Amino acid sequence: MKLQSVFTYLEQMSIPSIAAIHGASMGGGTELALACDYRMASDAPQTKIGLPEVLLGLIPGWGGTQRMPRLVGLEAGLDMILTGRTVDASKAKKMGLVDKVVPAEALNEKAMAWAMELAQSGKKRHFEQKNLKEKALAKVPGAAWVVCEIARKQVMQKTQGNYPAPLAAIRVIRKTYGGSLEKGLKVEADAFTKLMVTPESQNLIHVFYLNEKVKKDKGTEGKVTAKTIAHAGVVGAGVMGGGIAQLFAARNVRVRMKDIHWDAIAKGYAAAKKIFQKSVERRKLKPNELKNAMERIEGTVDFSGFEHLDLVIEAIVENLEVKKNLFKELGALVSPQTLLATNTSSLSVTALAEGTPHPERVVGMHFFNPVDKMPLVEVIAGNQTSPEAVASIVTFSKALGKTPIVVKDSPGFVVNRILGPYLNEAIHLLMEGVRPTEMDRIMEKFGMPMGPCALLDEVGLDVASKVSHVLYGAFGERMKGPEQMTQVVQEKRLGKKVGVGIYRYENGKRQESADLLTVFKPQARPSDLTDEVVMKRLVYLMINEGSRCVEEKLVRHVSDIDVGMIFGTGFAPFRGGLLKYADSIGAEAIVSDLDIFIRKYGERFKPSKLLQEYSVHRKTFYQAEDLGS
Ligand code: NAI
Repeated sequence: MKLQSVFTYLEQMSIPSIAAIHGASMGGGTELALACDYRMASDAPQTKIGLPEVLLGLIPGWGGTQRMPRLVGLEAGLDMILTGRTVDASKAKKMGLVDKVVPAEALNEKAMAWAMELAQSGKKRHFEQKNLKEKALAKVPGAAWVVCEIARKQVMQKTQGNYPAPLAAIRVIRKTYGGSLEKGLKVEADAFTKLMVTPESQNLIHVFYLNEKVKKDKGTEGKVTAKTIAHAGVVGAGVMGGGIAQLFAARNVRVRMKDIHWDAIAKGYAAAKKIFQKSVERRKLKPNELKNAMERIEGTVDFSGFEHLDLVIEAIVENLEVKKNLFKELGALVSPQTLLATNTSSLSVTALAEGTPHPERVVGMHFFNPVDKMPLVEVIAGNQTSPEAVASIVTFSKALGKTPIVVKDSPGFVVNRILGPYLNEAIHLLMEGVRPTEMDRIMEKFGMPMGPCALLDEVGLDVASKVSHVLYGAFGERMKGPEQMTQVVQEKRLGKKVGVGIYRYENGKRQESADLLTVFKPQARPSDLTDEVVMKRLVYLMINEGSRCVEEKLVRHVSDIDVGMIFGTGFAPFRGGLLKYADSIGAEAIVSDLDIFIRKYGERFKPSKLLQEYSVHRKTFYQAEDLGS
């Protein structure tokens, strides 16, 4: 409230004030600018204005909930505050958030000239609602209430009520819009302090710091220099190869894309173009930038031009022998310094490097589908991979705008390994009579972006079944997929891509399909299989597998598992990540439930050694954050 009063003092000074904005103006910075009479922004690309507090489980606390809607209107103000969206200078000008946009080099000069002008006139700003709609919203009783109610419904639909901050922001604005600033600031401060101590806010702040940690992490402890990657090769122009080529080109990396046939190249090229075109439609890219970006991708059906590449990444068929041959061939062809990466989702990087000269530069770079949207990259170090190769791929992933975690070479790496038992369990639960829509609703309520049945259909039941077999081969019984998984694949119920999987898809819309009963022949859902038990069976299996990954030191930090699950699967950020969530429940409670599940549902629920140890000694995962190697 002290700071609120400083901003109010600034606002009420008889001297007019101008905020000259250059660079990131986030949260408090924007609130300071809002307290000024006028705002001038530089046109530099790094100038971004926003109130991102909701992303940390908070609301603006220094007058943002009051001054933003007053300045830009109720609907636009709500949108900024509820989404945490940032806008560039030109958008800010259009919405009335800034008064003038000037070239970055002239910002100081122009702001001073404007100040001199205002010094003559002494003109303060008067908050007069500009258009009729805003006037009506402020004056007509109940009008603002309706707008806030619509916003509340949208937030509830999007977040299942899991995020208290946007709901609190709506309550504050609904109560204060059109009223006195003084009262409004009190209501805001009251709501802010209540949010500060919520677990949701603390977890979101935890995730923010995890992200900051990734930004600083070089991927190795030693002093190594990452190689610059300006020109790369992508072998395999399918779903993943096309996406990877697009990402590289979007980030100014020249690409040579190789496949066996020209039609495959054409498909990869078309897939990349489609993604760029969407950016043009959303006005994130100009048509000439699309053209320039596409020109950075060249196609080839031989290895011409591969001699001088900085990196070659392969995304060809998931077959060890075929990939091994490719690496052998590449090894003889490219320079010894060229990094050789694989996008394999299940094969051993160490095995792939066998027979390649200089296996130390062979490394895993595991993207997730769709490449342009999924933020995570698992960087896999094989037994012989050099720290330099790891550091180079970590640095490169960040330059591509991705979030990398370094993982040891082990079947399924981290994310798919943890998802394996979760997806298998979804099929078990279907068999026990939990309807897919019910199961998906339970997990959405838990905070997953989509439930496991929808996820199985998205990934493809054939792909999920293949991964399940690999994990079963590596880890034995606890990873054994239910036989229905194989059955649905044989029946070509492969998921969304063919229009039918667990659900049926018509015009892209998901519907529960009646013939699912004939495929799965589920029993009636027993009364003790409550929603809570369904959630626990699904989530505790992930925690159990995550704890094994920690036990085996597959990652360098406990938090890497949480980063992997949040950025690779969308695991509920407000819960702080998989293992942070486990810590909030406590190993003792988890183990006790798992023991009950073993008796009822089978040995696959057996708690890991580490969970048992933590249960006995009441330890948490985050107590041992750095795992060493
Ligand atoms: P895809 O079947 O869509 O594409 C494979 C492409 O590689 C095809 O265009 C094929 O013609 C080409 N190809 C096959 N052998 C080749 C060779 N010897 N030389 C050059 N090109 C060759 O497959 P997708 O889905 O893109 O997967 C590729 C890799 O990425 C696999 O290792 C897969 O495990 C991995 N991956 C797949 C994900 C997915 O969701 N699809 C996610 C993460 C990894």
